[in-house]
Amino acid sequence: MKIILLGPPGAGKGTQADRLKEYLSVPKLSTGDMLRAAVAEGSEIGQKADKIMRTGGLVSDDIMVAMIADRIQKPDCAKGFILDGFPRTIGQAQALDQMFEKLHIGIDHVIEIKVNDAALVERISNRFSCSKCGAGYNHKSKPTKVKGACDTCGSSEFSQRADDRAETVAARLEQYNQQTAPLLPYYSKRGTLHSVDGMQPIDTVTSEITDLFKVAA
Ligand code: AP5
Repeated sequence: MKIILLGPPGAGKGTQADRLKEYLSVPKLSTGDMLRAAVAEGSEIGQKADKIMRTGGLVSDDIMVAMIADRIQKPDCAKGFILDGFPRTIGQAQALDQMFEKLHIGIDHVIEIKVNDAALVERISNRFSCSKCGAGYNHKSKPTKVKGACDTCGSSEFSQRADDRAETVAARLEQYNQQTAPLLPYYSKRGTLHSVDGMQPIDTVTSEITDLFKVAA
């Protein structure tokens, strides 16, 4: 199954993609994670992306399209994949259409996770992750089971994303509204778009999404 998750920063795309990849046994392709890995490596793309991400802008379509074109042709994507954070512009969506046409595949579901702006800012400001294994947490909705220790690896070192500062979050939201929200009518016209209420608890959002697959089956 091939799925696109759409939604503003902090809507829960990454959270749901992690669950859906287990449910569907297909990989999660997160362009944000790929870019953060490139930044950590210090590659040429990583150095370019670092400056843009820190200010809440979008990395160029050329770079992002090349990154995804390469990734979706890897053998682990043969049975499907979950796109988290791509496409993010009409240009990226059109490039994805062309890739799919070449590969004779099609998208099954485009899922919008809807969350109001106040909740987005609160979620992002409470988000943190384990510095050692990368497991993600939230002070309000997903704290560690034992205070100060990662549930997965036990490490006591945690960090926040460089782009999660309040002023950068505002810029990211603006980019979403200007560049990414136009993808909603783009996919709606094709009948592939479903919207889920992302204000509900994490488990409920997951159930609503997986119910969509059952209805479509
Ligand atoms: P990216 O990493 O994709 O960030 P984003 O889209 O801004 O999304 P986030 O990761 O912030 O949020 P999310 O929706 O995944 O929410 P999460 O599950 O973490 O991109 C980062 C940057 O990279 C971009 O700004 C851009 O510069 C660049 N980039 C990436 N892709 C690009 C592309 N295609 N083109 C150009 N540039 C690109 O949840 C957030 C928090 O809320 C967590 O703490 C979670 O536990 C909590 N939470 C989740 N669901 C719920 C719930 N239902 N109730 C309560 N809390 C919840």
